[in-house]
Amino acid sequence: MTELLNLTGKVAFVTGATRGIGLETARGLGKLGAAVVIGSRDAQKGQATADQLRKEGLTAESVKCDVNSIEDHAAVYGFFEKNYGKLDILINNAGILLDEESVSVQIVNRTSTLPAETLRETFDVNFFAPIQLTQTLLPLIRKSEAGRIVNLSSVLGSLTLHADPTAPIYSFKTFAYNASKTALNAFTVHLAHELKDTPIKVNSIHPGWVVTALGGNKATIDVVEGSRTSIIAATLPADGQTGGFFHLDDQLPW
Ligand SMILES: NC(=O)c1ccc[n+]([C@@H]2O[C@H](COP(=O)([O-])OP(=O)(O)OC[C@H]3O[C@@H](n4cnc5c(N)ncnc54)[C@H](OP(=O)(O)O)[C@@H]3O)[C@@H](O)[C@H]2O)c1
Repeated sequence: MTELLNLTGKVAFVTGATRGIGLETARGLGKLGAAVVIGSRDAQKGQATADQLRKEGLTAESVKCDVNSIEDHAAVYGFFEKNYGKLDILINNAGILLDEESVSVQIVNRTSTLPAETLRETFDVNFFAPIQLTQTLLPLIRKSEAGRIVNLSSVLGSLTLHADPTAPIYSFKTFAYNASKTALNAFTVHLAHELKDTPIKVNSIHPGWVVTALGGNKATIDVVEGSRTSIIAATLPADGQTGGFFHLDDQLPW
């Protein structure tokens, strides 16, 4: 198992961090010594979450960030520029699944009738938002000695596995969600290539099937285990990979 680095002196921003995997990722990074900034589309919920983490002895703040809002992206940039002058770790965690109430083993494939609006809404949050937020914050990530960008993808974004009838996820055909994660993986590969001669690492991760509102109650792991891969990707050493897609220490097929 990868040994996690001490993050004292580093600042991390996690989107969608008031619940689920995002909250636990922020907590985990805080426990490693990072100052964590909770991104939340509801400013009050974000403050309450940061208060809770501070009560637990962690260094935490919050900033309002609806990932669909370009104005919020600019405000987040201003927050980090003013308070830290850099950003070490960006976790693009916020995500939505609109095809179904949550992931379940009995998914009905509705690709042929899926409303375009469902595709657009899903792509706004899961694809366009992380790209635009990352582009906005990149000048501050370049100021870090070891910038790390983690894109919360999903094994459901793997075209290789979706094309393989023997793959465990073969019947999980939630088209809008899955396609948005496939596209997010393309962003990871392209940005990592652009930044390959910098210290910045960009990776896609699959957290596992995690009990959350999105993952549903049939999921197999809890949020602590589910936050582990994000934390590994956020703490990769200088010789760690970039442009990858992994779960824990295992590579996933694109
Ligand atoms: N759970 C799994 O099994 C699983 C598996 C593979 C990948 N993932 C990925 O892991 C990430 C976290 O998922 P989760 O399971 O923790 O889901 P979750 O419990 O449903 O949490 C989703 C988070 O995203 C936030 N969010 C949604 N739309 C937003 C917006 N427009 N602006 C800002 N924040 C927004 C939510 O904020 P509000 O509280 O304001 O709604 C919430 O904090 C997602 O990208 C998901 O696709 C999850």
